[in-house]
Amino acid sequence: MAILIDGKDVAAKVRAELREEVETMAKERKKRPALAVILVGEDPASQIYVRNKQRACEDVGILSEIYTLGENVSQESLEYIINSLAERRDIDGILLQMPLPKGLDPVKALKCIPPEKDVDAFHPDNVGHIMRGDYRFLPCTPAGVMELLRRYDIDISGKECVVIGRSDIVGKPMAMMLLHSGGTVTICHSKTRNLAEHTRRADILVSAVGKAGFVTADMVKDGAVVIDVGINRNADGKICGDVDFAAVEPKASYITPVPGGVGPMTVAMLMKNTVKAAEISQKTY
Ligand code: GUN
Repeated sequence: MAILIDGKDVAAKVRAELREEVETMAKERKKRPALAVILVGEDPASQIYVRNKQRACEDVGILSEIYTLGENVSQESLEYIINSLAERRDIDGILLQMPLPKGLDPVKALKCIPPEKDVDAFHPDNVGHIMRGDYRFLPCTPAGVMELLRRYDIDISGKECVVIGRSDIVGKPMAMMLLHSGGTVTICHSKTRNLAEHTRRADILVSAVGKAGFVTADMVKDGAVVIDVGINRNADGKICGDVDFAAVEPKASYITPVPGGVGPMTVAMLMKNTVKAAEISQKTY
């Protein structure tokens, strides 16, 4: 029987800690952190994510502004809006919800966000800092995974860590963070041969694939820590992760459920980054 890693509980603790910091900032400096979120188009999942981010801001005491743009917005107009937010001293963090509709260039748009306001850590400058290990911000989902490992006292140094998925948002930064913590890291992806041979070596297995039931019991070593970043729907329309939870849980030492595992941590870490951005801007101005 694995120990269940309760992301909902840890996220609530992180948010409670941040609420105190924000209230102190509001009292002592007459300032609250402020986050601007830009949503382009009508992707239903993105709409839910943005609503959750807005609610989390309210919960923690962070000011938020949501900009909803039509899917036919031009690259020029999108960049104009980001540049206007970049110049505003009262805005600490800027988040461009991904993915963008076809025809828009995400990297060009992300480069308009000043790195010190880039609370997602998607700007190429911040991506470079993650590679070097001297970062200001960490991308929210892998940072949430690291926070879970830390709060459950799961040691990474010297461990075999296998990440399935090589996305810019999760897989690649996740691998870097595990590496900086002393893990021996393997990144697996759609071209990997003999996937199970790699995953069966993992002391810490992180799946960020986006396919229900992708990680089966035969892919997992006895006693492994299993972190499920997937958010999918199964045949019954229920939210589930990448991991076949019922079959894998008895083999694992620790496991994250879906929902209630990594998901709530992503938003909590965004709040953390926004508070940090407000602290940076306080020092700059
Ligand atoms: N789309 C999926 N995850 C994320 C995220 O963490 N940030 C943004 N901006 N878009 C996303």
